[in-house]
Amino acid sequence: MTPENDPLPLLLKFLRFPTISTQAEHAEDLRQCAGWLSTLLQSIGLHSEVLPTAGQPVVLAHTPRDTAKRTVLIYGHYDVQPVDPIELWETPPFEPTLRNDRIYARGSTDNKGQILAHILGVRETIAHTGTTPVNVIFLIEGEEEIGSPSLDAFLREHRDDLACDVICISDNGMVSDFHPTLSYAMRGIAAMEVRVKGPSVDLHSGVYGGAVMNPATAAARLVASLHHDDGRVAISGFYDTVRPLADWERAASAASPISDADLLAQTGVTELFGEAGYSATERIGARPTAEVNGIGGGYQGEGTKTVLPASAFFKLTFRLVPRMEPEKILDLAEAHLRAHCPAGVTIEIERGHSGLPYFSDPMSADGQAAQRALERVFGLKPSLYREGGSIPILTTFKEVLGADALLPALASPDCAAHSPNENFPVRNFETGIMLNQALLEEFAKVPRGVHGYRGDVPNLDRASRTA
Ligand code: BES
Ligand code: ZN
Repeated sequence: MTPENDPLPLLLKFLRFPTISTQAEHAEDLRQCAGWLSTLLQSIGLHSEVLPTAGQPVVLAHTPRDTAKRTVLIYGHYDVQPVDPIELWETPPFEPTLRNDRIYARGSTDNKGQILAHILGVRETIAHTGTTPVNVIFLIEGEEEIGSPSLDAFLREHRDDLACDVICISDNGMVSDFHPTLSYAMRGIAAMEVRVKGPSVDLHSGVYGGAVMNPATAAARLVASLHHDDGRVAISGFYDTVRPLADWERAASAASPISDADLLAQTGVTELFGEAGYSATERIGARPTAEVNGIGGGYQGEGTKTVLPASAFFKLTFRLVPRMEPEKILDLAEAHLRAHCPAGVTIEIERGHSGLPYFSDPMSADGQAAQRALERVFGLKPSLYREGGSIPILTTFKEVLGADALLPALASPDCAAHSPNENFPVRNFETGIMLNQALLEEFAKVPRGVHGYRGDVPNLDRASRTA
């Protein structure tokens, strides 16, 4: 093996591609990165192609199909979030740097480090045994961070090539530092942007202030109307379809090693906040939320400018749990905002991306296989966790391929995903390579034809998915 094919140099190379999917000027970087990944997959003996979509290309690779073996599809994404605020990075986001035994770079933990660990795990397995205990498919997309708008059609078009028994993803977080974690649920998401319009132009706030509704004030009032003081979302009907947590889930979250003190340390806040009656772990993974992701309007420059702005805006995302349907939640939110809109301004609402919530059974045959693999590699029983983040395509996987997704985590809680100084510990990377090998071995032990859902926990409830 040449040094440039060693795990760490390969990861550094992967991280140098600035694959920001939300910024059009990076389209060529995404294309180059997809090509590099595909060549890497070919070099370890897989059949690999870069396939076009309406948006960014997909890398699709597979080991030779042996019909006697089960098939595991490993999904991940090579696109990354934008880097701003760039001034808060200690080293440039696309010049990966090793310090404190961590690799600092945008995409290191979301999701390039994990994807490469899975690829290199397969490389190790092939090097040692000449084959893999299961057929492996890699599906690596370039649009996850913008809601996977092209993947739905891609899955339907390539349904036969993607046929699999189980899906394995490591695009999720550990409950605490280096603690083995199997996520069995992800929240869904529904996004909207609201523009609040007032006077036809910015006005002098002395000449007109007091007599004209200020759109920035109206935006603040609307945002404030979304929650009751006790943290519950105030939109009428918001919780109507939400099921209570099962006893075993409450027990699993009570046994979680994450403490409120950990969350205070990770976030830097002085006190936690949230819905009464739920632990922080439950609030994050098992309860729906309404979050303001951005708010603005009026003068943003240095000093004072006495202006009454013509408009203001805010951007919202709702995180959803099983049985909540994105379009219905957006309908309820829209009705709430229209009902609470102060007189003297109007609102325009634009809906954004959405994805259904996902729920799988951690005690299914494949769930138990994933738990065994985690225990083998980490030497500890894994925590079962409901992840607060979203991977919008999971439900479409289930619908189109009929397979459940299991999410053995590799990201540390302090990985700074989506933030400045995103990082991936070297030991997580190395452990990920071993975990992949253990996962393939354990998934191979599950009898063929056994599918994930055991039937005694609420699986995802079908609902329409909007792109
Ligand atoms: N890797 C994350 C999902 C995630 C976030 C897992 C936090 C564990 C902890 C994924 O890439 C992501 O960020 N998804 C977006 C989806 C959205 C842009 C549609 C999310 O959750 O905000
Ligand atoms: Zn991710």
